[in-house]
Amino acid sequence: MATPTIAILGTGSYVPTRVLTNEELSKKVDTTDEWILTRTGIKQRRIAAEGESTSDLAAHAAKAALIDAGLTAADIDLLIVATITPDLPMPATATIVQHKLGIGTHAACFDLNAACSGFVYGLDTASAMLASGRYRHALVIGAEKLSSVVDWKDRTTCVLFGDAAGAAVLGPTRGDGARIIATKLYSEGGMAEMLCIPAGGSANPASTATLAGDQHFIKMKGREIFKVAVREMEDAVEEILEQHAMTADQIACVIPHQANLRIIEALSKSMEIPLDRFFINVDRFGNTSGASIPLALDEARRLGRVRRGDTTLLVAFGAGLTYGAALVRW
Ligand code: UT7
Repeated sequence: MATPTIAILGTGSYVPTRVLTNEELSKKVDTTDEWILTRTGIKQRRIAAEGESTSDLAAHAAKAALIDAGLTAADIDLLIVATITPDLPMPATATIVQHKLGIGTHAACFDLNAACSGFVYGLDTASAMLASGRYRHALVIGAEKLSSVVDWKDRTTCVLFGDAAGAAVLGPTRGDGARIIATKLYSEGGMAEMLCIPAGGSANPASTATLAGDQHFIKMKGREIFKVAVREMEDAVEEILEQHAMTADQIACVIPHQANLRIIEALSKSMEIPLDRFFINVDRFGNTSGASIPLALDEARRLGRVRRGDTTLLVAFGAGLTYGAALVRW
């Protein structure tokens, strides 16, 4: 059997309705709209409602992606949810999303933890599984309710994050030239402590002491990560272009992880790719970790920034530290 060529057949996204502005945040912690905007480019972010969980956001995004692909839940036999904010420590959020979407028991469903690189990791994993011929259509979802793990007393992190979900349906190409050209993943595990949630796992189980010590919230060495992020993304972009004998001029649109406008600007400068070829929505949604790239990708497509025949470059970095890139033709 010939190896099938895999393409993204549809995308979808969802953000909660509640908008949290910098102005409002400046009433909760010692910060200002000016500081947040100039240091990060963020103006506002979305916050999920109480009782709205990651699987709810994921299911909304997935439904939109299925419609865009012209498929139904019955067509899906592989479901991957990339998240660091699962509904529960177990079972996998993917199984909960499966139930919400009405996907049959024939489907393999699992979560993937690669933080902000989760969607690119998911694309690589799903496309390899589909190319094996053992699965036909996959849903790859990046979904996060980061508001549930943010320390709302910590101004160095709480201004950065937001809640959202984005999804893509993958399957055999429909003969229009669309395909996932390449994916490349990396990890630098020695830097795991730079960005983590210290407690709640087997190394440091939840206890009254971990709760009292605020150990269940995101801890980040922001300044250090900034520098590493730019270097890692440069490496990922250079290598994937080189391996596929492509140049930056052939990229119609870059969809970077939306962590900080200054990181995106630094990448644009060092890679000599004009900033107007980057799709940017960090101003409206902040850093939504695993949801960041699929949310931006879906928006970019809906706004006509990604057209048939275009090649897009997705590039991510995040906790782990994980990083990676993907080249996708539409
Ligand atoms: O997707 C996950 C990967 N994570 C990231 O991408 C994060 C990468 N890092 C960043 O985006 C930036 O490093 C931050 C936005 C987190 C911080 O920006 P920075 O320019 O690196 O600031 P800094 O950490 O060096 O802090 C500068 C000053 C400090 O005060 P002092 O020591 O100079 O007196 C901070 O205490 O700004 C202070 N500060 C704030 N002031 C007002 C930190 N957070 C705030 C705040 N409002 N929210």
